[in-house]
Amino acid sequence: MRGRDIISILDLSRDDLYRIFGLAREIEENMDKYINELRGRVLALLFFEPSTRTMYSFQTAMSRLGGSCLVFSDVIRTSIAKGETLGDTIRMFDGYADAIVIRHRIEGAAKYAADIAEAPVINAGDGTHHHPTQAIIDLYTIWKYRGRLEGLNIGVLGDLKYGRASTSFIYGIAMFKPSKLYLISPEELRLKNEVKSDLEKMNIELLETSDLQSVIGELDVLYVTRIQKERFPDPAEYERVRGSYIVDRDLLRNARDSLMVMHPLPRVDEISTDVDDTEYAYYFKQARCGVPVRMALLKLVIKG
Ligand code: NCD
Repeated sequence: MRGRDIISILDLSRDDLYRIFGLAREIEENMDKYINELRGRVLALLFFEPSTRTMYSFQTAMSRLGGSCLVFSDVIRTSIAKGETLGDTIRMFDGYADAIVIRHRIEGAAKYAADIAEAPVINAGDGTHHHPTQAIIDLYTIWKYRGRLEGLNIGVLGDLKYGRASTSFIYGIAMFKPSKLYLISPEELRLKNEVKSDLEKMNIELLETSDLQSVIGELDVLYVTRIQKERFPDPAEYERVRGSYIVDRDLLRNARDSLMVMHPLPRVDEISTDVDDTEYAYYFKQARCGVPVRMALLKLVIKG
């Protein structure tokens, strides 16, 4: 995988994913063995949109491999404030770093960066499009705790229209032939037609519904997402759908014992805190998986 750009989860095959999972698990078990793996290597983190987990887990991952990071997230203090273009910014960091991680509000920004840079480019979120590394973490979490990815009943809840984490997760899990994919959202936030038709081409059985209660008992995984307030062109549209779903203990009384409730985080109010200490809650475990998974990915992309 050395030198490869990771723009969409579909850039990876199942074999690539299993390779990443295997290495991530090996790293989790033998963290100290990898402390000099990327010594002297430099990772550029270009964040043009807010981030907590993604940015800090990449930074942690690079540190734990013995490398270092150039963190570019405060646009005000850099030349962007003087009018430097994205293309020139990429050219600069391409000269400094062994790999570039980029998050940007514009769809296609990561692909654009990859076309310019010689160094491998990893998409950490481009607008409403893709968030492949989050999807790798999500799949790893299911693989690690459930033992398999194939043949599960997967529910994805919330903002399927603007959510890039949910879109990437949906494409990712589709590669592992879910038994059924439940797309649960308000009418206004249905999955984009182009994604739906891709899934139909992949022969995935889909069920679209607004009614979480009616399907909760059938699910192996419930992937909850935040309504992406910042993506709505009209604030009134957001007001109509905010707070549409709340996953709480009461709802989960009808769930299978083995249900995994996941969330890429940050959550606002869509999972009640009373779920946090139940056996259903996997979202903090999922966030922890971010470090070993990103360590594995960086090692494979920078060093092979
Ligand atoms: C997601 C994102 O930025 O798309 N966050 C993340 O990286 N874990 C999800 C979100 O913001 O709702």
